[in-house]
Amino acid sequence: MISPRPEAEQARYDRTGQTYSHTRRADPRIAAVIDEALRGTTTVANIGAGAGSYEPGHTVVAIEPSQVMIAQRAPGAAPALRARAENLPIRSGAVDAALAVLTVHHWDDLDRGIAEMRRIARRRVVILTWDHDIFRRFWLLRDYLPAAAHTDASLAVPITRLISLLGNVTIRDIPVPHDCADGFGGAFWRRPRAYLDPSIRAGMSMLALTPKNALQEGLSRLQADLETGEWERRHHHLRNIPQLDLGYRLLIADIDTQ
Ligand SMILES: C[S@@+](CC[C@H](N)C(=O)[O-])C[C@H]1O[C@@H](n2cnc3c(N)ncnc32)[C@H](O)[C@@H]1O
Repeated sequence: MISPRPEAEQARYDRTGQTYSHTRRADPRIAAVIDEALRGTTTVANIGAGAGSYEPGHTVVAIEPSQVMIAQRAPGAAPALRARAENLPIRSGAVDAALAVLTVHHWDDLDRGIAEMRRIARRRVVILTWDHDIFRRFWLLRDYLPAAAHTDASLAVPITRLISLLGNVTIRDIPVPHDCADGFGGAFWRRPRAYLDPSIRAGMSMLALTPKNALQEGLSRLQADLETGEWERRHHHLRNIPQLDLGYRLLIADIDTQ
C-alpha cells in the first residue's frame, strides 16, 4: 500500500521533518549499543543521517537527502552531503564503517543502497531496523491500530532480505527502554497516553503515513480505555518491566571477513 517514490519521500521529510528534532533524539542506551557495534573503527559515514541522532563522534560524513533534516543538525556535527543512499558521493573503501539508523525502509532501491554502503565501507556495515513480525504484536497495533500495522507491514524491510544483501551478519536485539528518549513507533509502550498526542505521532512513519481517519476509531478507543482504566487492567504487567523487545534489531556485517 505504501511505497513512496524518492521525490515524495524526500518531500515528506522536507515537509514534516521540521518537528523531528522535538520528538526524535538519540536514546543513550541504544546509542551505547550502536557505539559498541562500531568499536575499533575510526571513520564512519552515517547514511540517511537525518538530524544526526546516534551519530558517533568519529563520523566523518553524513548523507541525507532532506535539507530540512540537514538544517536541524547540531553545530559541530559531521559535514552533511545532500545525497541518497542509492548513489553515495563517497569513494570506494573511503571509511571504516557505514551506519544507517532507522532509514533503510525509506530507500527507493534497497539493493543499491546496501551495495553502496558495502562499497564505501572497508570494515563494517551497521544497520538499525525492526522486524515487523515481532513489532506487529505490539499492543498498539494489535489491539487499537490495525491500519498502522498494515502501513508498518508495507514499510518494514524483512530482516532476511537484509541478511541476504549483507552476507555474514551478527544480529543484536535492541530492547526499548520504558522511558526511551527517542520517540520512534514503539517508544511509548509503557506510556500509552503519548500516542494520543498528534505531535508525537507525526514523528512516527507508520502513523504519519496512515490516513488519519483510519486511526481515529482506534485512538478514541485507546483514550476511552485509558480513562476507564481498562488499558491499565489489561497491561498492568508492563508496569514492572524496564525494557521490552518490540523487534528492533541491529545488524552488524563485517565486510573484511567476507
Ligand atoms: C526516520 S529518519 C532517521 C534519521 C536518523 N538516522 C535518526 O536515526 O534519527 C529517516 C531518514 O532517512 C532519510 N532518507 C529517506 N530516503 C533516503 C534515501 N534514499 N537515502 C538516504 N536517506 C534517506 C530521510 O530523509 C530521513 O532523514
